[in-house]
Amino acid sequence: MKRRKTVLDLQRSKADNQKITMITAYDYSMARIINKTDVDCVLVGDSLGMVVQGHTDTLSVTMEDMIYHARCVNRGLDRAHLVVDMPFMSYQTSIEDAVRNAGRLVKEGFAQSVKLEGGEAICKQVRAIVDAGIPVVGHLGLTPQAIHALGGFKVQGKAPEAKKQMIEDALQLQEAGASMLVLEMVPATLAAETTAALDIPTIGIGAGVHCDGQVLVCNDLLGLDLSFAPRFLKRFAELELQMVSAIQTYVSEVGDSIFPSDAHSFGQRINTGKVGETLGKLY
Ligand code: KIV
Repeated sequence: MKRRKTVLDLQRSKADNQKITMITAYDYSMARIINKTDVDCVLVGDSLGMVVQGHTDTLSVTMEDMIYHARCVNRGLDRAHLVVDMPFMSYQTSIEDAVRNAGRLVKEGFAQSVKLEGGEAICKQVRAIVDAGIPVVGHLGLTPQAIHALGGFKVQGKAPEAKKQMIEDALQLQEAGASMLVLEMVPATLAAETTAALDIPTIGIGAGVHCDGQVLVCNDLLGLDLSFAPRFLKRFAELELQMVSAIQTYVSEVGDSIFPSDAHSFGQRINTGKVGETLGKLY
């Protein structure tokens, strides 16, 4: 049986100067494909609120949503480390809520680590979750659960004060026991400085090349929605085009009675002599 990567393996990668790869997944079929690659870490992100559910932000995602998708993803993996996001208001409300909900993600969703957004303000929750034996991944910079406070999906940490605060938050999260830290949409120089200040690995998205690893949303990396084109995104495929073309070809072939052919049928077709003739006209 293959062994799942642990946070200790990922921390060793930083020590060994080896880049860490993380990708999101929301269901079994994507996890099964990711499992054929060397990706280190799979994140069931609350981005599922936008990518899967079609909302404009992540705020309405529930614990039940996260558990459902985490269970699906877990069934497709036998090697990568599984991180699951704690959704909005599942940890901000109290330390007790945070520990209880982190525990549910482990017990019911099979998470190996949980991810929380925020700095100093959530360090007590981070400490308590870690003390309960659950590894925590932090998330700084653009924290989508604070989208209304931040005023939109914008680059963070540009002002000198904000830069100082980000490094301070990162150090406090590490001190509280966080095992890794996601940095989202921050200037590359600040991400580099933060990475150098920490012993734990940083995983960047829109945070430049100097982070210890990178994360992308699987649908974005694969080009499943070509209308989404933020600056930080590199599409490694444009599968939307192939998918639309495949589905349209299916529609045409059904319409023209090309599909199903004899090769896709049980027994041969009745030869009416006319292409496209339906049984409705025969009987
Ligand atoms: O929810 C998510 O997918 C994330 C990544 C973008 C880091 O938090």
